[in-house]
Parts: sequence; C-alpha cells; structure tokens
Amino acid sequence: MMGFRQALGVGCEFCHAQNPDTHRNDFASDANPMKDTARAMIRMNMDINEKYLATLPNVTEKATINCGTCHQGNKIPAAFTPPAGQGPGGPGGPPAGAPPAPRPAQ
Ligand code: HEC
Ligand code: HEC
Repeated sequence: MMGFRQALGVGCEFCHAQNPDTHRNDFASDANPMKDTARAMIRMNMDINEKYLATLPNVTEKATINCGTCHQGNKIPAAFTPPAGQGPGGPGGPPAGAPPAPRPAQ
C-alpha cells in the first residue's frame, strides 16, 4: 500500500473511501471507484509480469514491472518526451514516425 502511494504520489484516500461518521479511512470499503481502477492495474501488472515478461528468453532476473515503472510518482503516467538530440521527433533526431535506427548485430 505504501508502494502504491509512492508510485502514484497520492495519499491513501485517493483509493480508499472515508467513513462518513468517523471521517477516517475505511480500508475495507469499495465505495471509492478508484479502488477498482487500482484492482484492474494490479491484474494488468501481474499479467505483464507472468504472461509476458516471464516467457521471454534470456531476460534478466529483474525483468518485472511495478506501479512505479509507468507511474513514476504521478497519478497518470507522464507522456514520454525524447531527450533533445535523441529519438524520433526530438531536436536533431529523425522525424516522428521514422523507422528506428538499425541495431548493431548481436
Ligand atoms: C492506488 C490505490 C491505493 C492506494 C493509494 C492505497 N490503497 Fe489500500 N488498497 C487498494 C486496493 C485496490 C485494495 C484491495 C486489494 C484487493 O482487492 O485485495 C486495498 C486494500 C487495502 C487494505 C485491506 C482492506 C481490507 O479489505 O481489509 C488496507 C488495510 C489498505 N489497503 C491500506 C492502505 C493504506 C494504509 C494506504 C496508504 C498508505 C493505502 N491502502 C493506499 C488500493 C490502494
Ligand atoms: C504499463 C504501465 C502501467 C503500470 C505498470 C501501472 N499503471 Fe496505472 N495507469 C497507467 C496509465 C497509462 C494510466 C492512465 C489512464 C488514463 O489516461 O486515464 C493509469 C492510471 C491509473 C490510475 C487512475 C488514476 C486517475 O487519476 O484516474 C490508478 C489508480 C492506477 N493507474 C494505479 C496503478 C497501480 C496501483 C499500479 C500498480 C499495481 C499501476 N497503476 C501500474 C499505466 C500503468
């Protein structure tokens, strides 16, 4: 839970509803729809790790993702902007949509 909080840069109440009487977080309640969004994200994470990454040959032991891999401390993951001079669409790089540069033979 602390990991979720940090990965998204939010407080517990972002996903957890509060009890209207006590004004404290009611962690078992499903009243906050964000909790279901988070459940879908948890399933997606597990699928990516178990159905996809785990089946790749020659992956490193650390070939897993977690919430922070995409979220990087943001509620909605930020769009990727290539650093200047690198990558399609960036200054000095090939135009957006250009085919990737050939990789050296392995
Ligand atoms: C990004 C959304 C999110 C955030 C932020 C979050 N939680 Fe949760 N939490 C969930 C989800 C989803 C579940 C239910 C998991 C499941 O379905 O088993 C849950 C379950 C729980 C439960 C178990 C409740 C039960 O059913 O008995 C506790 C306790 C809890 N969270 C505490 C916290 C605390 C404390 C924080 C802040 C440090 C926190 N959570 C932040 C999404 C979140
Ligand atoms: C593969 C990338 C990826 C991973 C990994 C990921 N997310 Fe997400 N998540 C997204 C994207 C993209 C969105 C934004 C969808 C949109 O634009 O509304 C999102 C949105 C969310 C939202 C809704 C935020 C809002 O303000 O509506 C929650 C909550 C969330 N993610 C929780 C999680 C949790 C918890 C984990 C880890 C179990 C996780 N995410 C892992 C890509 C990811």
